[in-house]
Amino acid sequence: MQMTDKKFYITTPIYYPSDYLHIGHCYCTIAADTMARYKKIMGYDVYFLTGTDEHGEKIARKAESAGTDPKSYVDNIVNAVKELWSRLSIDYSHYIRTTDDYHERRIQKIFKILYDKGYIYKGSYKGLYCVSDEAFFTESQVIKKDDGKCYCPDCEKELEYKEEECYYLKLSEYGQWLIDYYKEHPEFLEPKERQNEMLKNFLLPGLEDLAVSRKGLKWGIPCPIDSEHSIYVWIDALSNYITALGYPEEGQDDLYKKYWPCNVHFVGKEIVRFHAVIWPIMLKMLDIPLPKKVFGHGWVLFDDGKKMSKSRGNVIDPNTLIDKYGVDALRYFLMREINFGSDGYYSQELFLKRINSDLANDYGNLWHRITAMLGKYFNGVLPDEAENVYGDREKELKKMVLTLDANVESALDSFKFQDALIYIWEVIRMTNKYVEESAPWNLAKDEAKKEHLANVMYISFQVYYIVTAYLQIFFIDTPKKVFNRLGLGDNVTLESAKQWGSLKSGIKIEKGEPLFNRYDIEKEIGVSTVSSDENKKHINPPKESRHKANIEKEDFEKLELLTAKILVAEKVENADKLLKFVLDIGEGEQRVVVSSIAEYYKPEDMIGKTVLYLANLKPKKFRGIKSYGMLLLADNGETLSLMTSEKNFDAGCSVN
Ligand code: MSP
Repeated sequence: MQMTDKKFYITTPIYYPSDYLHIGHCYCTIAADTMARYKKIMGYDVYFLTGTDEHGEKIARKAESAGTDPKSYVDNIVNAVKELWSRLSIDYSHYIRTTDDYHERRIQKIFKILYDKGYIYKGSYKGLYCVSDEAFFTESQVIKKDDGKCYCPDCEKELEYKEEECYYLKLSEYGQWLIDYYKEHPEFLEPKERQNEMLKNFLLPGLEDLAVSRKGLKWGIPCPIDSEHSIYVWIDALSNYITALGYPEEGQDDLYKKYWPCNVHFVGKEIVRFHAVIWPIMLKMLDIPLPKKVFGHGWVLFDDGKKMSKSRGNVIDPNTLIDKYGVDALRYFLMREINFGSDGYYSQELFLKRINSDLANDYGNLWHRITAMLGKYFNGVLPDEAENVYGDREKELKKMVLTLDANVESALDSFKFQDALIYIWEVIRMTNKYVEESAPWNLAKDEAKKEHLANVMYISFQVYYIVTAYLQIFFIDTPKKVFNRLGLGDNVTLESAKQWGSLKSGIKIEKGEPLFNRYDIEKEIGVSTVSSDENKKHINPPKESRHKANIEKEDFEKLELLTAKILVAEKVENADKLLKFVLDIGEGEQRVVVSSIAEYYKPEDMIGKTVLYLANLKPKKFRGIKSYGMLLLADNGETLSLMTSEKNFDAGCSVN
């Protein structure tokens, strides 16, 4: 039964239609759609908002260089975005465009409310500005290159110096309030490390007021209090989450009353700052409740570690992937390959490997095997379960599939899409193993084992059915195919399928075509999935990287790396490989370190060198000598090289 008191409001960022979208955008939208599907399946009344952020100088420039006006330019992209979402079966409740009349009108009202309450004042802004990202940056944020110029920390394009009159929002007054809010609501921003980033980078150093208008910007919403200004990006963009629901227009705000506060905003980690600092303060100023959660997901990177982005021009065209490999494969890959809070990799090779191993092999081939056997031994008709031949294997598998309930729910309730799929695949792999170990082809040889054989068939199909019912959260087409082959039509509810015994014996089961194709990876690789030829080099990184980005900066920061000066170096008695050192590690402290480098260095050559030293390694004894910390060495396979400080630094400098 639909429980209408259970409501769930979820949003994606509104994307810039400055160009066609790529799989980075699909990633967030698929995650939000998956979450929305899950909540709907769990009986929630879901409102799922997505859309496009259509104003700004960058879009105006893009339109100009395309020889058209901004509105026609974005209309064209928005059509392509909607088409893409339809191809990916993204079931949003509403698509907001910031050029929609109602949005523009409501934004002006919001601006006016903030102004009337005294939160907006006139000032002037000087700073380094990125036209591409429409953002000002402080000196400490920018990339400074050898050419003396400053570059954007996000898109790496050259920054311009700009000074202009503008209106400011008094963010600075709310810094402490927000720090306290984080403390009282630790669930507000996830994953947890994003909170530390916000505190360290923005809140603790002290918030600055925010420029909220731009003079002379034509492609923007006119400022209601000053006709020379337009409303600049963040009030326009962030407020979409409430204007879409009718705020602040009384009488038109039923959706707002029903769904606000939002349950979760999914946003990429680069815009967490706007959603977890500016947005809560704006809402506080408007005196309306804050969203329950902002979840900052990681980036889809290429194997070469570069972020996929339109400004870098290295994007993968999702349409090509859908055409070639299908919607379910793409949705599965993105949800399975990348832990939602962290960065992860896309390469065609990784994608094809997942399709082959998880989809074609584990899941697809299991269907193929059990339907082939059912055809051969039972004419395709599902036999009865025979409980009297239940052994440990059967019991274990049954238990495993029945605990999916709790496991999948707890994973998805904490936005761990990957974990939910891992749980489901454990059951799929276990079922493959069960079939293998039960060896139906042997049971079939012995008439006395017919009941046992029937049981293996029943159990395998029952598990397959339950697993497929869960996969409705992630897949679009495949569950329908399976349910139809089971003679159950398109619509199977998880609730009805997840109980043991939900599959009735006596049904005729159709084998059908393979559920997923498998690919010859070598042949497939090299077929372009990138949207333009010049970028082909990005799609097939030479090999799967040995260097997975699997630690956070905080992990690295646990290492206390220092420069250290070698004061004493000597051989360790009766140990051919060991040298003992006494190091000056700064501030008058000395340390003894033992290192296995006697084969590569003479002790006398090492004295006086400034080397790199790991200071906080737990001490360990070598030949009775206690060694504290470790010297850093490079290894080329033949010899070792001490890592030294390229400039003649003193001992005790930090290395980071
Ligand atoms: N318009 C702003 C957002 C305003 S929200 C009130 C914007 N748009 S964007 O087009 O740049 O989209 C950014 C979002 O797209 C990211 O936050 C992320 O959700 C998604 N992604 C874009 N590229 C991505 C990757 N390479 N990897 C993962 N997500 C990516 O910022």
